Amino acid sequence: MAEHTLSQTEKEMLVKAALEARAQAYAPYSKYAVGAAVLAEDGRVYGGANIENAAYPSGICAERVAVFKAVSTGVRKIQAIAVATENGASPCGSCRQVIREFSKPGMPVLILDASGTIMLETSLEALLPYSFGPEDLSN
Ligand code: THU
Repeated sequence: MAEHTLSQTEKEMLVKAALEARAQAYAPYSKYAVGAAVLAEDGRVYGGANIENAAYPSGICAERVAVFKAVSTGVRKIQAIAVATENGASPCGSCRQVIREFSKPGMPVLILDASGTIMLETSLEALLPYSFGPEDLSN
């Protein structure tokens, strides 16, 4: 699958879905709501929010919820991801690695603030250079 350049419509779709997902965050401990939206190879968008737990390490990030939602529906490649936080923060290292599993290195990543403003438009490769992926295990 070729790397994807996001159209304006796709960006708007991802921004909307990430904000909608963020509104569903379950973050009573950190109070830091995160929303993510994945554009799958079939054009469908999957949203996810962070889900915390009273046993803190059992919580999970929004990005992984969105990716796992897509993958558990049958998706194997994602074309883009958008992440919305209060302050336009970047995905954590674990999420970068999980995103890597299902995407091309150049895949677009949109970093949004709480209003949906795109604070940074970057790529997975920029966030996770020299990454380890499925190809490293194939011979
Ligand atoms: N969080 C995410 O959902 N995504 C990230 O990339 C960074 C952190 C969540 C985890 C936790 O629920 C809260 O933000 C504070 O760390």
